[in-house]
Amino acid sequence: MIKEKWWKKSVVYQIYPRSFCDSNGDGIGDINGIRSKLWYLKELGIDIIWLSPVYSSPNADNGYDISDYCGISPEYGTMDEMKALIDECENCGIKIIMDLVVNHTSDEHPWFIEAKQSKDNPYREYYIWRKGEKGNPPNQLESCFGGSAWEYSEETKEYYLHFFHKKQPDLNWENQAVRKEVWKIMNYWIDMGIGGFRMDVIDMIGKVPDKEIKENGPRLHEYLQEMNRETFGEKNLVTVGECWGADIEKGRLYSDPERKELDMIFQFEQMLLDQVPGKSKWDLKPLELKQLKQVFAKWQDALEGKGWNSLFWNNHDLPRIVSRWGNDKEYRVESAKMLATILHGMKGTPYIYQGEEIGMTNCPLLSVEDLADVESRNMYYERKQMGYKEEDIMNSISTKARDNARTPMQWNDGYEAGFTEGTPWYRVNPNYMEINAKKALEDKDSIFYYYKELIHLRKKEPILIYGNFKLLYSEDKSVFAYIREWDYKKWLIVCNFYGTPTDFMYPARGQVILSNYKQEPVILLENISLRPYEAIICELIET
Ligand code: NOJ
Repeated sequence: MIKEKWWKKSVVYQIYPRSFCDSNGDGIGDINGIRSKLWYLKELGIDIIWLSPVYSSPNADNGYDISDYCGISPEYGTMDEMKALIDECENCGIKIIMDLVVNHTSDEHPWFIEAKQSKDNPYREYYIWRKGEKGNPPNQLESCFGGSAWEYSEETKEYYLHFFHKKQPDLNWENQAVRKEVWKIMNYWIDMGIGGFRMDVIDMIGKVPDKEIKENGPRLHEYLQEMNRETFGEKNLVTVGECWGADIEKGRLYSDPERKELDMIFQFEQMLLDQVPGKSKWDLKPLELKQLKQVFAKWQDALEGKGWNSLFWNNHDLPRIVSRWGNDKEYRVESAKMLATILHGMKGTPYIYQGEEIGMTNCPLLSVEDLADVESRNMYYERKQMGYKEEDIMNSISTKARDNARTPMQWNDGYEAGFTEGTPWYRVNPNYMEINAKKALEDKDSIFYYYKELIHLRKKEPILIYGNFKLLYSEDKSVFAYIREWDYKKWLIVCNFYGTPTDFMYPARGQVILSNYKQEPVILLENISLRPYEAIICELIET
């Protein structure tokens, strides 16, 4: 028997609290709202909740700008409610992982309020300050939200660094006092009984602004090893780092258990395949399935026996996968199930983003008034100024904006989709009458129950956790197929990625385990025609 980490068998569900469930009618989702839906998460069968930030925050970036790491924002509830949530989750066998956003704080955090006062303030070195160059910022570094990464501060006539919004000043990790503060915060939450951390843009903490190094700085791994020792290392928690800049070599460094850093990372290579290489996410290009397969296979192979993958299509920063790479019209159900099959069939820990399990789609974003997110709004005005056509800007935005993921969860076909009794902070997707959790729970063929089945399979079939991965037909332009192999068992996962039928062959028969279409119990794989978005998981019976 292999003694393995608990989180290898787990499935994570991400909650974006603002949009999940509002319990008090103020239009903003909250902790009590989450508590009222634990039965739903239990029904789905997930093991871990990744909770996007609920800390005190002025909300320049919806909670990713934190002004008190040990306090709960009143719009989300109280610390007692948070503790109750942790306890109630524990009673349901669910652990909570907290979002650790420590690349930067809010500019309203007491450290920054102090730091900006004077050059000799004790908190000054918690942040990164530079003199300007003849009235200009110190260098060309850009913010991920557009514009310069340097903001002039009147009080001391210096610039501070912010890789995101100017209300999100970057912390200076070279300062050991900062690192100690972070460990203190982490240990506070660990003592409260949480199950681990998701670490926001953690690959940026080792930045060297003077050399214009943003990600993967020289001391990054040192910081993580130190953090591991000082906080979660011996605690049997789970940690996942958000690392946009990771390639496979770096992926191994983070997640190799012997190095004692993190358990896994979110790497985004596959999520960049529908943008023009070297350009921004707004510069669209069609996805090539071949590339998608190759990227997934590369990561599966690279971390085999050396690290661990996280598996995800969605989060609060990405458009809805069924709209992005599936079909959110006539084949919404089939394609959502197909995409789920590809992901949950691979080796790693799967993550589900709220609403993905009912096939929620992108929402219509027709003009700048429809946008709530700082990133998409900034991009709109920036490109407008650069002379881009309105139509092109809005096309990029509807396809990629984070707003797509942030519309309220669609619970039922009643008032505001059952999300709130008040006025929602952001509008509900108009398709809620058709797509909602209540309807999904009433239909045994729904996307919800398919996810439930996938989660259940992972619990009972070690092959899904430990089995080796082998990509088949890497050059095929329409089929995504691979083998998992473990302990004399072989499973084939085969998916038609598109809405047109396509042929597939494999010299074996397959005992069907799960499919998004009705199947005979045993199918001959030697020459089959896959229906639109057809997905099959079967155990191979060699002929
Ligand atoms: C990544 C988070 O996922 C995103 O929502 C946020 O805007 C940036 N980091 C800055 O914290």
